[in-house]
Amino acid sequence: MTADQFQLSCPVCKLPLMGDNKRLECTNRHSYDAAKQGYWNLLLANQKRSKDPGDNAEMVQARRRFLELNYYRQLADTVARKITTLTSSTESPRILDMGCGEGYYTQKMQQQLSDSNPQAQLAGLDISKHAVKAACRQDKNILWLVASGANIPVADHSLDLVSLLFCRLMPEELSRTIKPGGDLLIAYPGEQHLIELRELIYDQVRNSGFNPAQTLGDDFSFQDTETINYRFTLPDQQQIQQLLAMTPHGWRIGQAAKDKLAQLDSLELTLDVQLARFSRR
Ligand SMILES: C[S@@+](CC[C@H](N)C(=O)[O-])C[C@H]1O[C@@H](n2cnc3c(N)ncnc32)[C@H](O)[C@@H]1O
Ligand SMILES: [Zn+2]
Repeated sequence: MTADQFQLSCPVCKLPLMGDNKRLECTNRHSYDAAKQGYWNLLLANQKRSKDPGDNAEMVQARRRFLELNYYRQLADTVARKITTLTSSTESPRILDMGCGEGYYTQKMQQQLSDSNPQAQLAGLDISKHAVKAACRQDKNILWLVASGANIPVADHSLDLVSLLFCRLMPEELSRTIKPGGDLLIAYPGEQHLIELRELIYDQVRNSGFNPAQTLGDDFSFQDTETINYRFTLPDQQQIQQLLAMTPHGWRIGQAAKDKLAQLDSLELTLDVQLARFSRR
């Protein structure tokens, strides 16, 4: 896919970006070169809260290592199927995976879309350069963007569907960029998600209390929620540590819980994810 098929807009002045696969420019002459790996860096220096925003290289590696074990494959396939079905009656739908990380889910989406709706155009966006670099190696048919979810570099109401998987919700830009009638698909942990691990780590297990409907406000109407719930077993210490490194629990864990986990030969876990769909009014 070429970048200008996606109606990219200049992150500085919002005018359309035109060009080829090497270079994009707006009529105000703000220009952007493709990175040698093939992604576009459309993140402005003044939008960065830190020098190296988003997931760092180590976090990206940890996520890649765990997801590659495919325990979340069933979840990824469900998300990909849903996206494919929701966009099947649209000609050349534009789909954005917001906060795509290292691209595991985005790639599964692309595989299903290329079978069922090869005209679909899929982009993955993340603020972390490390994540997008890793993602870019996976699949060259996806448009990979380093950008901020608080300044999505696409035209107003140009997206047919946005997926947001385990990622912060920034409603204003979603309202601006999704077409009226377009879909927003949000995946977030349910109450039982990895409950066995959380019970080992915390004295009191708390739920996130995340309520997307409340955060989204009036521009979106709730359509439906699907619960994806299944069990899987990590068969050894290495995989237990790989999961821990990927989750936020890995940064919060105390020494006593670390010691307890280190003694396990295996760990049976529950995956419990809510997949909520909203539509742009
Ligand atoms: C928990 S990870 C989820 C990654 C991926 N969706 C997955 O499920 O594997 C959250 C991602 O959001 C990204 N992120 C954080 N703040 C962001 C922002 N303001 N704009 C875009 N991405 C952001 C991080 O870099 C990270 O890759
Ligand atoms: Zn510009």
